[in-house]
Amino acid sequence: MFAKINSLGLFGLNAFVVDVETEISRGTPCFDIVGLADVSVKESRDRIKAAFRSFGGQFPVARVVVNLAPADTRKAGSMFDLAILVAVLRAQGLLNADLSETAFIGEVSLNGDIRAVSGVLPMVLCAQKAGITEVFVPADNAYEASVAEGVKVYGAANVKDILDHFNGTRPIAPAPPYVPKAAEYFEHIDYAEVKGQRLAKKALEYAAAGGHNLLMIGTPGSGKSMLAKRLPTILPQMSFRESIETTNVHSVSGLVDKDNPLVVKRPFYSPHHIISGAGLCGGGTTPRPGQISLAHNGVLFLDELPEFARPTLEMLRQPLEDRQVTISRASGSVTYPCSFMLIAAMNPCPCGYMGHPTKKCTCSRQKAKEYINRISGPLLDRFDIHVEVGPVDFKALSSTAKEESSAAIRERVQAAREIQQRRFAGTDITCNARITADLFHEVCPVTKEGTELLEQVFEKMGLSARAYDRIVKVARTIADTENSEMIDKKHIAQAVQFRTLDRKYWND
Ligand SMILES: Nc1ncnc2c1ncn2[C@@H]1O[C@H](COP(=O)(O)OP(=O)(O)O)[C@@H](O)[C@H]1O
Ligand SMILES: [Mg+2]
Repeated sequence: MFAKINSLGLFGLNAFVVDVETEISRGTPCFDIVGLADVSVKESRDRIKAAFRSFGGQFPVARVVVNLAPADTRKAGSMFDLAILVAVLRAQGLLNADLSETAFIGEVSLNGDIRAVSGVLPMVLCAQKAGITEVFVPADNAYEASVAEGVKVYGAANVKDILDHFNGTRPIAPAPPYVPKAAEYFEHIDYAEVKGQRLAKKALEYAAAGGHNLLMIGTPGSGKSMLAKRLPTILPQMSFRESIETTNVHSVSGLVDKDNPLVVKRPFYSPHHIISGAGLCGGGTTPRPGQISLAHNGVLFLDELPEFARPTLEMLRQPLEDRQVTISRASGSVTYPCSFMLIAAMNPCPCGYMGHPTKKCTCSRQKAKEYINRISGPLLDRFDIHVEVGPVDFKALSSTAKEESSAAIRERVQAAREIQQRRFAGTDITCNARITADLFHEVCPVTKEGTELLEQVFEKMGLSARAYDRIVKVARTIADTENSEMIDKKHIAQAVQFRTLDRKYWND
């Protein structure tokens, strides 16, 4: 007897439909799974046999061959368990419903429980595209699956639930359609707690408004970490498309919160400096997303930047430009998106007090230079905004004057983002930092005075083409925060001011 059941597989972020074909025939009893299935898939044989006992079923005493088609695509993971089990039942003649537009995803445990798997959202989105109208998923993944519109989702906790559903004794109610929740931006931290640091706060506001990378340099205790950690409180709202993209990455990493499956808050990742290159950019035998991909559409904060291993930092260069990272393995290559804002903080020298108004720096010139040079020129060039964070004086710290709240700053950020959304409607561009070369001149009109200033600084500062490009993009953002269509001299001047630290610290 033959049966065919739909399921889904996953490689990296790429989901694909899998036909689970089962044939039961006479002959020496065996249970084989073929179709480029790896060890993790073959292990499902033992789980399925045991699960049959859990509901009083009888695994066929016959030749059972399961083929996972297409046979030329590698299959890994335990998500096919449920579909294989259902296919065997069907081939036994025990399940006769029309399942041509139904797919099954889930791991089956020895006692018949259906366990959650990772990557459910990308798989169900793929099912939707393939014309599948209903999916059976582990109960714990049901809410996540319901994010895909137009697919009926049934969450099942045990194989018995599925049998009862189809024999009509206890039908499973479809999961309610996902209702997007407004992002909860309520945080326990706020920029109002940071005294002074006007310039740094402004720089962070521009970074948030235009999606720019930002580097803070300053003496210890000046509030760099404090400033960076509050960035999520002013970040603009995510679009639904951005939420889906980020959730897909979190889903394949098994990081989806089952009660709040859709990532609606921009991710903020702050890895410790001992992180490996693979941890940061992705890797492993089955290539998994790194922190840069988990931070997709959000922020990666690298505190104490020079403490990171230099090769690890250099690995960031390509993904920062390409906004995606490809990991190659013998089993194939996987591409993950990684469009993130890079925020970094560092001391100016090993002791931290170079340039401090009262404390004496104890570093030799040589040591200070070595320290600063751990950040290569090309990496430095990728920070659109550089800002010095000086020590706060006692007067500012003890002042009771109210500082501006994150909510007030966020309102301006949001307004600037809305201008950008209108500007880039119909393109893939999400913010000023991602303006492509073909659109550059069209969307960045500079006044005559602005152009003159640009020309002067370009020659005087010996800017690279990349630095020029970034100055104009930051000026674009500054102009947006003032609702100015044209980029004027003052916007250029401010953007240039945010590119002067490399000259101060990195030059002899
Ligand atoms: N501008 C500031 N306003 C209020 N408190 C500050 C400020 N700067 C520093 N602090 C205090 O000093 C602590 C250390 O700041 P931190 O952000 O860790 O400095 P850095 O990262 O520059 O070394 C903070 O937790 C905070 O208590
Ligand atoms: Mg710090």
